[in-house]
Amino acid sequence: MVKEQQKLVIGATSLAFLLLLPWIYVAFFHVNPLESWKHKLTNWRGNDQISSKKTNSSMEEVNDPLEFQLRRLVRGEDRIKLDNTGFSCHSDLHSDLCVINKPVKVDKNGSTVYIISSSNQSQVERLIKPYALQDDQTAMKRVSPVQILDDDSNSSMAPCHFTHDVPAVVFSSGGFTGNQFHEIDEIIIPLFITTRHFRSRLKFVITDFKPWWVSKYRKILKHLSHYEVINPAVNGSVHCFPRAVVGLKYHDYLAFNMTDIPGGYSMFDFRNFLRQSYNLKIKNVKFNKREKKPVLILLSRQNSRRFLNENEMVDSMEELGFEVVVIRPSRMLNLDKFAEVVNRCSVMVGAHGAGLTNEMFLPDGAVVVQVVPLALDWCASNYFGAPASEMGLHYLEYKIEPKESSLWETYGANDSVITDPGSVISKGYYAFKDVYLDEQNVKINVGRFRETLVRAMKLIDR
Ligand SMILES: *[C@@H]1O[C@H](CO)[C@@H](O)[C@H](O)[C@H]1NC(C)=O
Ligand SMILES: *[C@@H]1O[C@H](CO)[C@@H](O)[C@H](O)[C@H]1NC(C)=O
Ligand SMILES: *[C@@H]1O[C@H](CO)[C@@H](O)[C@H](O)[C@H]1NC(C)=O
Ligand SMILES: *[C@@H]1O[C@H](CO)[C@@H](O)[C@H](O)[C@H]1NC(C)=O
Ligand SMILES: *[C@@H]1O[C@H](CO)[C@@H](O)[C@H](O)[C@H]1NC(C)=O
Ligand SMILES: *[C@@H]1O[C@H](CO)[C@@H](O)[C@H](O)[C@H]1NC(C)=O
Ligand SMILES: *[C@@H]1O[C@H](CO)[C@@H](O)[C@H](O)[C@H]1NC(C)=O
Repeated sequence: MVKEQQKLVIGATSLAFLLLLPWIYVAFFHVNPLESWKHKLTNWRGNDQISSKKTNSSMEEVNDPLEFQLRRLVRGEDRIKLDNTGFSCHSDLHSDLCVINKPVKVDKNGSTVYIISSSNQSQVERLIKPYALQDDQTAMKRVSPVQILDDDSNSSMAPCHFTHDVPAVVFSSGGFTGNQFHEIDEIIIPLFITTRHFRSRLKFVITDFKPWWVSKYRKILKHLSHYEVINPAVNGSVHCFPRAVVGLKYHDYLAFNMTDIPGGYSMFDFRNFLRQSYNLKIKNVKFNKREKKPVLILLSRQNSRRFLNENEMVDSMEELGFEVVVIRPSRMLNLDKFAEVVNRCSVMVGAHGAGLTNEMFLPDGAVVVQVVPLALDWCASNYFGAPASEMGLHYLEYKIEPKESSLWETYGANDSVITDPGSVISKGYYAFKDVYLDEQNVKINVGRFRETLVRAMKLIDR
């Protein structure tokens, strides 16, 4: 019952991490090249069945790699429409994506994409917000719309300031950026899903351009595209492209649905891609065995869901034989360094929050221990638990008891906040968020927690 209500509230708004801060590493570790890394681009993998009723013209398209790549972004009727008109969009609950198989002109700071066509067959006019969470109104308020118009005399008058010879992929870096979970979930993974099969022969056109975001993820962007990203708002420039995609595909929280990914990629391929992008040496946790002690990274939140007895926790971890690295949050994360720090760890421990997104940098076989504060079970398992298993990591949950929550003291043992979280949740998302996400800290029962740590130690075979 509680779970169901929670699911409704959270599924509908997906704001759980909105106000969380990104993380910064405080420690550097030299990473030994334990494994020789073969830096090879993943082979292009086609899993897409080419329709058996090929027409002569679609045969030609199959021979044209770029058109073929574009066609694979849509299926069924959407693909037929693309073949017939050169323009087609796919919409589902979360994502809205348009594929334009004709030359385009990106104008008006990226707010307008003109389709340059020589025929009158389609009168296109479409407004799209190129960000993954279409069903989340709060996210969408922070995303500028892009209108897609058929070429008309107005646009013909605007000259191309820049003429590019690879397709554009237009997306927004607005939405919930500022929170690492959302940055990965709604932009980085959708970018990988949508563009990896282009083999870097494309240019990113980023609306709601945020320089810090581009800089934070530069290694990933560089591996997805051979070219510099474009901010269409600079100097009111008009950019012309041979083809374009507006918007990104999205599946679910940190999820990959292989059958709907043009290159047939999976979480496995994404993790390989991350290792390539960040030059991470440790593929499997067993390589860490060469180090004397297994390294445990403790994500130390500062504002909410804070560990009130962190020192005691660290002592207990060290006593069990871990080398403990404590990472504190800060406004800007140097992901390039942090990815390496995480890659060297065998265990990650953190209270539910955006910092756990960094589990994606752990080596295969590492253990994620999520501390689940009161009433956060659903978010915990859906945002980080299920994805961790998908990543080839072991996943353990430490669900706190009411007494371990700071809310126990704040509200008293008999308050409905403690005894009946469902009643708070039913008052709406913000009532839930204010109490359980923002007001709650955790004082771990170290004796009980120890059992979880012992299990973690066993899982990494130490
Ligand atoms: C198929 O396309 C080729 C080249 O464009 C053309 O010469 C040929 O006549 C076409 N065949 C049919 C059956 O339309
Ligand atoms: C584009 O952005 C500039 C500067 O941000 C602004 O002055 C201008 O009005 C914008 N143009 C359009 C068409 O939105
Ligand atoms: C486009 O439409 C105009 C007016 O309806 C017509 O004169 C013109 O021939 C059409 N062009 C093409 C390429 O069909
Ligand atoms: C084209 O120009 C006309 C008049 O100059 C204007 O009313 C119309 O809004 C313009 N259309 C677009 C798509 O910019
Ligand atoms: C924008 O304009 C400024 C000043 O005119 C120029 O220095 C800069 O190179 C231009 N940027 C681009 C991307 O064209
Ligand atoms: C994966 O994508 C396919 C094709 O769009 C769809 O039929 C299927 O339901 C999706 N699976 C999941 C688990 O979403
Ligand atoms: C909570 O309720 C129980 C049983 O109703 C009662 O015995 C206890 O004194 C209450 N505790 C507080 C702190 O009010």
